[in-house]
Amino acid sequence: MRETLERIKNEALEALAQSDAQIEDLRIKYLGKKGELTAVLRGMGSLSAEERPVIGQLANEVRAAIENKITELSQTAKQKALDEKLKSEKIDVTVPGEKVKIGHVHPLDLAQKQLEDIFLGMGYTIVDGPEVEYDYYNFQALNIPEDHPARDTQDTFYITDKILLRSQTSPVQARVMEKTQPPIKIISPGRVYRSDAVDATHSPLFHQLEGLVVDEGITMGDLKGTLELFAKRMFGDETKIRFRPHHFPFTEPSAEVDVSCFMCGGEGCRFCKHEGWIEILGAGMVHPNVLRNCGIDPEKYSGFAFGLGIERIALLKYHIDDMRLLYENDIRFLNQF
Ligand code: DAH
Repeated sequence: MRETLERIKNEALEALAQSDAQIEDLRIKYLGKKGELTAVLRGMGSLSAEERPVIGQLANEVRAAIENKITELSQTAKQKALDEKLKSEKIDVTVPGEKVKIGHVHPLDLAQKQLEDIFLGMGYTIVDGPEVEYDYYNFQALNIPEDHPARDTQDTFYITDKILLRSQTSPVQARVMEKTQPPIKIISPGRVYRSDAVDATHSPLFHQLEGLVVDEGITMGDLKGTLELFAKRMFGDETKIRFRPHHFPFTEPSAEVDVSCFMCGGEGCRFCKHEGWIEILGAGMVHPNVLRNCGIDPEKYSGFAFGLGIERIALLKYHIDDMRLLYENDIRFLNQF
């Protein structure tokens, strides 16, 4: 029996030394319930009283030796597996990272924000108006009765006979004056609609910014000073403005306003089509009829108003030659701003 135990020990240790993958199999083979060592221990009943403790001790030693080896081997195997895992999952912090794409402001919003900032700086308040508007506010209150020829240039989308998509931001003037007695000093940016086909300078949806000032003693001089300051802030300190007589039904007198070309300084270049001037907005003194329509006494108060196209400002400011680029969401274009 002694020899059997010695043999089991040697065989087991040798087998364990050779293969670490089958540790569990070997454990079962030698130490399991049906294992060889267990079989020897079972046979101990046949031993004499003197032999039994000696063999028993030896059997325990053999078991301990095999168990220790198994523990040692499985720890080594575990460590090895861990080492390999750490190696394969190693993070190289010097590898260049993946760029996170950050969005940015659209050139149209950029232009609107700058316009707002300029007028906020002059003490204006920003107000909003509905895009779905009554014919009354879009036209009639602004001194454009039914059948007035001015409606032709502002054909829009009708929801009913009386409700339409506003063709200009000017109806906000009427809405504000109806609710507020002077002093009034507001701007109103927003979407407007016209029944126009899309091309490089037209779109059925575009943006305007309306301005309105009403108080006692407001004159054309105030309008001119305001627009001059605006033009300098927007296009640079060298910028000059000029008024050309025009007609708008809701202002009297009315003007179209040009800025000196900020590319050539007024000399004439391709950018300003050799004019030296670039048209940027319409303006005038609020027509007494409009004041009266909105419950403001034209004998006591006067005011000026102006309206500009935000797309036009963005195109000029960022030297964009086709309005469609602003709506196409081409990242290659938008990334430049
Ligand atoms: N609403 C006009 C348009 O769309 C622009 C305009 C002209 C607005 C003169 C005004 C103004 O407030 O006084 O063509």
